Amino acid sequence: MKNHLSKLIRPEVMEFKPYSPGLSIDEIRQKYKLDNVIKMASNENPLGTSPVVQEVIQKNASLAFRYPAAGNPDLCKAIGQYLNIDHQRIVCGNGSDEIIDLLIRVTAVPGRDNIVAFKPCFSIYKLQSRLCGVEFRQHALNNDFTFDWEGLYSLIDENTRIVFLTNPDNPSGHAVPSTELGRIAEKLPDSCILIIDEAYIDFASPVEEYSSLAPAIKSENIVVLRTFSKMFALAGMRLGYGIMPHFLADYLKRIRLPFSVNILAEKAGIAALNDQTFMNTTFELIANERQLLSIELEKIGCQVYPSQANFIMFKPPSNAWDIFEKLLSQGIIIRPLKSYGLPDHLRVSIGTVKENKTLIKSLKAILDEK
Ligand SMILES: Cc1ncc(COP(=O)(O)O)c(C=O)c1O
Repeated sequence: MKNHLSKLIRPEVMEFKPYSPGLSIDEIRQKYKLDNVIKMASNENPLGTSPVVQEVIQKNASLAFRYPAAGNPDLCKAIGQYLNIDHQRIVCGNGSDEIIDLLIRVTAVPGRDNIVAFKPCFSIYKLQSRLCGVEFRQHALNNDFTFDWEGLYSLIDENTRIVFLTNPDNPSGHAVPSTELGRIAEKLPDSCILIIDEAYIDFASPVEEYSSLAPAIKSENIVVLRTFSKMFALAGMRLGYGIMPHFLADYLKRIRLPFSVNILAEKAGIAALNDQTFMNTTFELIANERQLLSIELEKIGCQVYPSQANFIMFKPPSNAWDIFEKLLSQGIIIRPLKSYGLPDHLRVSIGTVKENKTLIKSLKAILDEK
């Protein structure tokens, strides 16, 4: 390491590597000389951008030269109406990633405070904590990927500012009823908030049983995170939000960069919230195909974990990395879970009927070769 760099760059930053989302469709196409590539790795909506939303984006393209309204008041009001909650509790961000980052920076003091989560968990919780110089504590999930509450609770002390939970969980798809999470929130010390990341809640059924929205709006220490990247098919637009107590929303609004949600994302988000037909079609597709794909994966010898999300985690009967690479060479991108500390497991996003059939056919052929 050059001496001047170690003086210039913060020690926390020195250890960072660029976020690795895996190879893109174009890279796989070129590498393996393929015409068709299927991406089932990032839990995007397999139906693509809703035609209704596309039309709104096109119609508003001429507004791109304007700054958006600071604080995205129209979008916050539309979300408030959609969820039937006070819009002052809502903070929008450039993906829910941004809200995660803001919540850490607003609450945790570098070098003193800590943040608690299960292991494995969504990587951004840990990365942004480390970037802030805040200790990140993790307790292992149970072997079946259910939540070990006692273990988690044992990590919490007077310097714990945030407990992160993901419901339904990523990468397992496991979900717990919101009553369980409400009990955890009640047991937390006064100076600690519970952040419940509901990125995949729109795929859980019945959603009222799993969503923590109702307990969150009655409490002063629960934050719920939502995203437009999954059900609403807007991952590339970068749009997410948090529902939180008024005092917390007030502080996040003070520190957030004023224009992080762009003007087209705002328009697209409002249109997506009104596109009930697209939501219904997506829900039905995911629910049906999740069940069919689980059955088919089991039939070919995979251990499948129950999922309430738009993806399935499974353990194949032979080397997971080999299978991932063979699928890649055939133009099917799924998610190896090595980086989650689960080298024997794979995660696949639910695709269209055709994509799921192609995946099973290829997977079966690969396993039959062995
Ligand atoms: C659990 C979880 N939270 C948050 C996100 C990020 O969502 P966004 O695209 O809104 O930043 C993801 C994305 O995959 C996720 O899996």
